[in-house]
Amino acid sequence: MAGRHTLGIVKPDAVAKGNLGNIVAHLEKAGFVVRAGRLVRMTRAQAEAFYEVHRGRPFYGELVEFMVSGPCFPMALEKDDAVKAFRAAIGATDPAEAAPGTIRRLFAESKGKNAVHGSDSDENAAREIGFFFSEAERAGLGG
Ligand code: RTP
Ligand code: MG
Repeated sequence: MAGRHTLGIVKPDAVAKGNLGNIVAHLEKAGFVVRAGRLVRMTRAQAEAFYEVHRGRPFYGELVEFMVSGPCFPMALEKDDAVKAFRAAIGATDPAEAAPGTIRRLFAESKGKNAVHGSDSDENAAREIGFFFSEAERAGLGG
């Protein structure tokens, strides 16, 4: 059965533009419940570890630089079939290809600076929620 939780990040471009509240409001209207959230300025080591799976890809260096360029807002979100529902709500990686009404279409400026991150599997959602939130902060998440 698909899991009920995913990890979303409002990325530095969207926080800098003042779109944090707009994006959270959009997600809440779409039926997501915010179970944990915090403004974080990632260190380079944290950003490199978070995106370890992309090490070696041509955009990796640029991605790490971008993610440490300012505060971001990781959040644990709950909804039925959360990973799939969240990726549908944010749209394609490149905002030019994202469907109308999706968060990236509405708020992202480029394929790199694309406003939000979303976990791509239940396994990665659990890993990524654990990356940002302590056991105590996860206590309210349920199963
Ligand atoms: P995310 O992990 O952030 O939810 O995004 P995604 O699955 O749609 O995209 P992914 O392939 O996992 O790439 C992770 C992030 O790297 C940046 N990227 N830049 N310039 C480029 O060609 C490029 N490709 C990827 C984006 O910030 C993307 O979200
Ligand atoms: Mg991804």
